[in-house]
Amino acid sequence: MLAERMRQLAGSQTSGMRNRARKLRAEGVQVVNFAAGELDQDTSASIKTAAHQAIDSSRTQYTETLGIGELRERLAQRYTQKTGAAYHADEVGFTAGAKQALFSAAFVSFQPGDEVIIPAPYWVTFPEQIRLAGATPVFLPTAHRQFQLDPDELARLITPRTRGLLLNTPHNPTGAVYAANVLENVAELVLEHQLTCLFDECYDELVYAPATHCNIVKQVPAMKARTILVGSLSKTYCLAGWRAGFFAAPQPVVKAVANLQSHNASNPCNLVQYAALDALGSVNDTFVDGIRQQLHAQRAVAWEWVQRIPQVTCVVPQGAFYLFPDVSGLLGKSFKDQRVGNVDRLAELLLEHAHIAVVPGSAFGSDRHVRISYAIPTEQIVAGFTQLERFVNLLK
Ligand SMILES: Cc1ncc(COP(=O)(O)O)c(C=O)c1O
Repeated sequence: MLAERMRQLAGSQTSGMRNRARKLRAEGVQVVNFAAGELDQDTSASIKTAAHQAIDSSRTQYTETLGIGELRERLAQRYTQKTGAAYHADEVGFTAGAKQALFSAAFVSFQPGDEVIIPAPYWVTFPEQIRLAGATPVFLPTAHRQFQLDPDELARLITPRTRGLLLNTPHNPTGAVYAANVLENVAELVLEHQLTCLFDECYDELVYAPATHCNIVKQVPAMKARTILVGSLSKTYCLAGWRAGFFAAPQPVVKAVANLQSHNASNPCNLVQYAALDALGSVNDTFVDGIRQQLHAQRAVAWEWVQRIPQVTCVVPQGAFYLFPDVSGLLGKSFKDQRVGNVDRLAELLLEHAHIAVVPGSAFGSDRHVRISYAIPTEQIVAGFTQLERFVNLLK
């Protein structure tokens, strides 16, 4: 009954863990949810007012496929400010989340026979989207370099079939942030081999000093013609469920995405576009500062705790809101006669016996790590790590 292309496609493992944690909670179990990919709090009052006003103004119709003109103008201004390169409204688009922008960008850019390089570990969805476009993901390992990119190692993976490179900074799940000089060296390769660079910067506002976020077009202006920049309101503005993402790309790519989405989505939610207009205005700067400060404090707590767990090591995350500890020191041990054979089993046992939900690294292409989100209240972080420590101490 199913098409061939669905044989290899599994549902997102991050959503799977979220759903299992929710189910246990509904059964009355107090689960600490370290598995969430979003902030655990309300959006700004001003964004909510804008959405209410859109409802009251009867914004019920279809809109332009990639968003209303006013919103595209606002996005173009944002991208111009961000990159220092002039972006126009026909070089940007608004989508139902960054996920849709990334899918459409991959679908219109890559085809069977193409190879697309993705640093690994990677966000769970990247390889699947490349495969759905018919292309082949090729992984660039980074765990041996504290999740940083080595342009020389990248260069060695480029073949005559390489068409694209998918970068994500700040990085989910590792928290890595790519430095300016690394992006400059990478850009040289992209330009030399005429690749398409998909540049996902959904966590761009969530970076912790001394790290700073660098945009590849800002670093190397010639990259504007080779890059699809993708952003999101999900994280910074606590709007994950409203599905608000956007992108900037060369005009032919934008047009192709509009054609594609005119057949599969018509347009992003009309009401959300008005909320996004508000979100992208300066009125929300204080809100975003508050989110960053709060995550900074939560990161400090999580970082202190993760270092206390025996046989677990972790690279300091510089951005986003995840720890990605190496738990390989726990594998092969047993919890009350149950063997912790791999990271999937570890995640299951942690949910069952420690009542904490983490995402196993296998979702991100690693069999040595788990992802822990610290975008939850501090007392929950402390409770979760206390339970984790207790669990680890019982391993034999
Ligand atoms: C790296 C990365 N890109 C894209 C997305 C998708 O964001 P959105 O909610 O805007 O679709 C996520 C969400 O977790 C992400 O972590």
